[in-house]
Amino acid sequence: MPKDFATMEDSNRSANPDIHSVSDPARRILLRGGLSGAIASLFAPLLGGCASSPAAAAGGPQLGFKSVPVGTADAVVVPEGYVATPAFAWGEPVGLPGHMPAFRPDGSNSAAEQAAQIGMHHDGMHYFPLDGSRRGLLVINHEYTDDGLLHPDGMKTWNAEKVRKSMAAHGVSVLEIAQDAQGQWSVVRPSRYARRITAATPMQISGPAAGHPLMCTAADPGGTRVLGTLNNCAHGHTPWGTYLTCEENWAFYFNGPEQPDAHQKRWGLRKGGRGYRWHEHEERFDLTRHPNEANRFGWVVEIDPMDPTSTPVKRTALGRAAHEGAWTAQTRDGRVVVYMGEDAQFEYIYKFVSRDPVRPGGFAANRELLDHGTLYVARFNADGSGEWIELSAGRNGLTAERGFATQGDVVIKTRQASDLVGATKMDRPEWVAIDPRSGEVYCTLTNNTRRGADKQPAVDAANPRANNSMGHIIRWKEDGDFDATRFRWNHLVLAGDPANSRPEARGNIRGDAFGSPDGLWFDDRGTLWIQTDAHATNMYKGEYAGLGSNMMLACDVKTGEVRRFLVGPPNCEITGVVCTPDMRTMFVNIQHPGESPTDRSDPDQPDRYSRWPGMQPGNRPRSATVIIRKRDGGLIGT
Ligand code: FEO
Ligand code: CA
Ligand code: CA
Repeated sequence: MPKDFATMEDSNRSANPDIHSVSDPARRILLRGGLSGAIASLFAPLLGGCASSPAAAAGGPQLGFKSVPVGTADAVVVPEGYVATPAFAWGEPVGLPGHMPAFRPDGSNSAAEQAAQIGMHHDGMHYFPLDGSRRGLLVINHEYTDDGLLHPDGMKTWNAEKVRKSMAAHGVSVLEIAQDAQGQWSVVRPSRYARRITAATPMQISGPAAGHPLMCTAADPGGTRVLGTLNNCAHGHTPWGTYLTCEENWAFYFNGPEQPDAHQKRWGLRKGGRGYRWHEHEERFDLTRHPNEANRFGWVVEIDPMDPTSTPVKRTALGRAAHEGAWTAQTRDGRVVVYMGEDAQFEYIYKFVSRDPVRPGGFAANRELLDHGTLYVARFNADGSGEWIELSAGRNGLTAERGFATQGDVVIKTRQASDLVGATKMDRPEWVAIDPRSGEVYCTLTNNTRRGADKQPAVDAANPRANNSMGHIIRWKEDGDFDATRFRWNHLVLAGDPANSRPEARGNIRGDAFGSPDGLWFDDRGTLWIQTDAHATNMYKGEYAGLGSNMMLACDVKTGEVRRFLVGPPNCEITGVVCTPDMRTMFVNIQHPGESPTDRSDPDQPDRYSRWPGMQPGNRPRSATVIIRKRDGGLIGT
């Protein structure tokens, strides 16, 4: 999601006492031997004991496509030999039986119609096979709304119906999609699986925060039921077949008091929020009247995509955060491990380890698996080691005197707990991806231009660049199994443009230049896909002048080579990527094409920056998925 950090609440200003050194083991090695030298010398010992997959045995992934140049065309550009087809755009009916309202391109669909249509601003997604690679459920997050495009006159007028429509355009879409004999994908309409989950859908609250006094409101005195999920950024999926959707910048939606208290301040809550104006017609978003409502957001939400009547569950044991996503691994004895980044400047990387192993039998057999376990936060040491610090009430200084009498206190105030235990403040942790061959865990740190600025945390080993405008990708290998409390880490790459005038913004990419890495995904062959989200405010000028529009690249992590695979339309971000199991179809989300760099879009000039995907003059640009196939029907990326 784009953020104007010049106006962000400065909620985590103080430096933690653990890392102040600028020494960076990975960088030192990079200077000596280049990137592949770094991988060989630092990771060879780490890779030593790892299981080998068929892809690794075959020599690992090869980037078999011709690089796409940087560009600014109002199009999605993919390599020669590939076709990218827009589909599943905002406003198309999801296929609810008996309720399939057609999209109206002037934004005049009602709130009730929007609740039966694909939401706005697609983000993380996953494909759940129903019939292998021919038919499945595509589950898509809708991160936020541009209300300048959502309503015919944008926000020039404001009323309860507009608030309802904005809430209905948030959340998650469950689409049944199928491929015909020619390889063309379409939405199955009607479908018994079709579903919209919105900011008004009833949900259950489970885990240690359920029933906590800070979770209770006038509408829910028991603190166990809540309406809706919002700002659903990235995602995850579980070994038992459920989808995880993550609430990122939920603080933007609340009207805070003139003088926020310390807890509200730490979470960036402030008067007016970020201009969504929901509280004017939906009073639970007004914290001056319902101060606890905000505590009911900031969670990872579990959804069973196979049962459209199921109630989504907010899993509070995983901690509260501006959650980017939640990516799972499994220990050898079958417990699930969830890695999570909190995308905000100077926030943290988390891991949850379940108490119990996954049981066969799908969601029915694992309904409470994410309610019991241990939450940790990461500390990256300057010597290349790292540790997971347990966030449990009564441990590591998390005492009743300091406000952590119960685990409910810890998870509702996860940021404050992490501050107290001395975790490492990171440069906006976005997506996590786990290498299927080596078990190494990778995380994008998208950027942080305030790193090292006056009164801000200094550079440290894990976040080594002041004014980190370009971002980097860190990776670690657990000491043993995924539940280990220690790890070793280095950087895959520091992003940048070698042509930059500022040496710190040049990076050390071996291959095609990029900045602001965000989406990150390993396909089954072991290719790492990197998606970028440079904000429209920064794109096309200054340090980003040479990088064009946001893009997706492929990386062979064995050699470190990075190659550009896709360039999106102007002012979009590229986010969300998954392939069918046969690797012959790739789905990629194009979010907010043509977004205004300064504010919400102007409804009188909606196509000022982009018309994609419609391309007619005056067209309102729409977030959509692109379906990528190889012309010869081959494997994507080869
Ligand atoms: Fe919604 Fe952190 O990107
Ligand atoms: Ca982002
Ligand atoms: Ca993101």
